Amino acid sequence: MIVLGIESSCDETAAAVVKDGCQVLSSVVFSQIPLHKPYGGVVPEIASRSHLEKISEVVNEAVERSGLGWDGIDAVAVTYGPGLASSLIVGLNTAKGLALALKKPLIGINHIEAHIHSVFLDKPEIPHVYPLLALVVSGGHSAWIECLRPGSYRILGQTLDDAAGEAFDKAAKVLGLGYPGGPVIDQAARRARGDGSYKFPKGRVQPDNPCLGNLRSELCVSFSGLKTSLMHTLKKQPAETPEAVAEVAFAYQEAIVGALADRCAIAVSDGKYKALALGGGVSLNKRLREALQTVCSDAGIPLLLAEPKYCGDNAAMIAGLAGVGGGIVGAEAFELDVVPSLQAGECG
Ligand code: KG4
Ligand code: ZN
Repeated sequence: MIVLGIESSCDETAAAVVKDGCQVLSSVVFSQIPLHKPYGGVVPEIASRSHLEKISEVVNEAVERSGLGWDGIDAVAVTYGPGLASSLIVGLNTAKGLALALKKPLIGINHIEAHIHSVFLDKPEIPHVYPLLALVVSGGHSAWIECLRPGSYRILGQTLDDAAGEAFDKAAKVLGLGYPGGPVIDQAARRARGDGSYKFPKGRVQPDNPCLGNLRSELCVSFSGLKTSLMHTLKKQPAETPEAVAEVAFAYQEAIVGALADRCAIAVSDGKYKALALGGGVSLNKRLREALQTVCSDAGIPLLLAEPKYCGDNAAMIAGLAGVGGGIVGAEAFELDVVPSLQAGECG
């Protein structure tokens, strides 16, 4: 099955053609980062306008580069949530139009679930083992998700406020390091000695927190206090040299990575999961990869990592998940509207 995937949930306009769920024939990503950089974050109006300007070109290029042409496409898959409503709608409407014109099925895909599938793209050697535990960490999400098979997901824990990527982005802004924050903090932290001169909280959540609902407190995090703690710390202990900035970046990154790794260790401790899959833009973080490798080695399970080009937002993961049976199909898919606050395991 050859699926054309379309993704426009945030600040990347992307299209890809994927064979049988895992073999990527083409993947085109137009990143809007330079457009949002001057504002230090994604500006929704700029994002949706740029999606509108770019989507036809990106989709055409993906089909062309696949070498199959339009006749080779068996289905059209698209992200319908979560994300920015005004961005999602561009991709969803484009996909609906294409599926109707091509007389092919439309498949509505949950963006977070697709990040989990990204670990299987272009990796024929990796066994698809289930149940697996997934950690999806990006600018918009930080969640621990149980996956019983493609299409079956349950959130075990998540951030109660800021996502890990958001915490990195906010800190980089405070430190004047630029946008997006994750890569620059990752880089700055590599220059640190790790001398312990700065310390930040690991975002623990109390069991009586009213926001928990059915989630396990020990598998949830709260990152909103980190930025406040950073600002207080910098008032008391200003980071006036590049060396001091590197120490701050290191300690801040350790707090986030430590929080994520601790929750993963707890989640895999009962031996239920056969692998840990890591997805989302923050999964590019070197320290996070190292820390989770240790967690997985201790638990005796593999750590499944996506190729770097599939860690951030892309459409190959959308087409891929559709190709292995995930998502909403049939007449229901054509009825779909965008669902900006869609959670993993929810059908909207
Ligand atoms: O998945 P993604 O491309 O888009 C969203 O769905 O949000 O993730 C973007 C996020 C940004 O917050 C960015 O700062 C973060 O991923 N990020 C990183 C690294 N590279 C990107 N965070 C930490 N370390 C990195 N190396
Ligand atoms: Zn994403």
